[in-house]
Amino acid sequence: MGTKLYIKTYGCQMNEYDSDKTVDILKEKKGVELTNDVNEADIVLLNTCSIRDKAEAKVYSELGRLNKLKKKNPNLKIGVGGCVATQEGINIQKRAPYVDLIYGPQTLHRVSDLLDIDKTKGIKAIDITFPIEEKFDSLPEPTSSGPSSFVAIMEGCSKYCSFCVVPYTRGDEVSRKPDQIFDEVARLAEQGVSEITFIGQNVNSYKMPYKDRILRLSDLIEIVSHIDGVERIRYTTSHPLDMTDDLIEVYQFVPQLVSQLHLPVQSGSNRILEKMKRNYTVDVFLDSVARIKKYRPDLRVSSDFIVGFPGETDKDFKDTMSLVDEIKFDSSFSFIYSKRPGTPASKLEDNTTMAEKKERLQLLQDELNKHHRDHSNKMIGSIQRCLVTGLSKKSPNQLQARTECNRVVNFDFQNIGFIGKLVDINIEEALSFSLLGSLHNSRGQN
Ligand code: SAH
Ligand code: F3S
Repeated sequence: MGTKLYIKTYGCQMNEYDSDKTVDILKEKKGVELTNDVNEADIVLLNTCSIRDKAEAKVYSELGRLNKLKKKNPNLKIGVGGCVATQEGINIQKRAPYVDLIYGPQTLHRVSDLLDIDKTKGIKAIDITFPIEEKFDSLPEPTSSGPSSFVAIMEGCSKYCSFCVVPYTRGDEVSRKPDQIFDEVARLAEQGVSEITFIGQNVNSYKMPYKDRILRLSDLIEIVSHIDGVERIRYTTSHPLDMTDDLIEVYQFVPQLVSQLHLPVQSGSNRILEKMKRNYTVDVFLDSVARIKKYRPDLRVSSDFIVGFPGETDKDFKDTMSLVDEIKFDSSFSFIYSKRPGTPASKLEDNTTMAEKKERLQLLQDELNKHHRDHSNKMIGSIQRCLVTGLSKKSPNQLQARTECNRVVNFDFQNIGFIGKLVDINIEEALSFSLLGSLHNSRGQN
């Protein structure tokens, strides 16, 4: 029987991508098999996240549970990866000596070697450095697991927003070589992937020399739109400061680029944006959205918000609420500010009580939900171009698809040959988390 690997992933889409790649590398180098049952695992990896909350505490309590398994099975190898690994480093082995390896987001390609290190010889299996280019060079052949796939185009972040740990845990920004990106997209498309999502902490700051010019995100979008089989292109996450003219213009020329944009604004108050070191004003954000809407009047914008940043007043919060009503954001994320060790904001005075912060979060989420519902209701009676993603989870006679704005639509149809195709669907009903519809025509069959 092969070695069984269990991997638990916390946090963002980059971590999901990293976990998939770690699994692929370990399959290739060690012949491991993936298991969903931690009790039968020979190797357990925790791919951790430290963006908010008491992330470190959660990891240590999970490790406590794993230690019990290791007592039953002394051959079990336990590894901690991701952003908590970078932040805590060797402290992990001090507090949890039964941990066998510690690796960071940029050294997952070295996990196989780290697993081979014999801890009893006093060598520490730890590598939390940032060899990002080497990581990109070492990624295995891409494999698809459905019609939609992530493709990393850059790593790390050099923006250093005052509240955020990412630049410290993932390192400064590094763009991936264009040929690697084009090659990965082409391979995925050959395997039937029709929707590509470019991912990275700040995909719109992508910049890389190629032949005799500098390629930016807009160029990547334009170039991959010519790869056979690429029907939809998304990107996330982007930064309002890098919504450059070329990226806005590309909405005019590339129909595969969806009319949906995730653009984290964080706050609607210029005073708070400045304290956050976001380096843009609300007007800059509004202007970018308005300019894209010139080409895509039905653009949907989603965002990330932080409430209760140190010094946020009622007036600042009201400014955020006004922005929410002005843009009518679609499916968005909102969080209470979390003080992160080592960040500049952690030194700021913070007089707002947790009760007030919770109240603001509730008000904001109610408003965001209202706009989300309104958007869904307005879709009833419309025809939406949707990507069929698989069988419906609700009924065996239904397929599941996703709209451009990423809503799930279930519709009656049993031909699984439709999976991976774009079809037009009449939207008939809006539920809280999904839509119901019926097939409008069978253009997708061709
Ligand atoms: N690169 C992205 C953000 C990555 S982190 C950007 O351009 O903004 C994802 C989200 O987590 C952020 O947008 C922010 O809303 C939230 N976040 C990050 N640090 C946080 C903190 N210390 N407290 C609360 N929320 C935080
Ligand atoms: Fe974090 Fe700001 Fe970068 S939120 S990921 S430092 S853009």
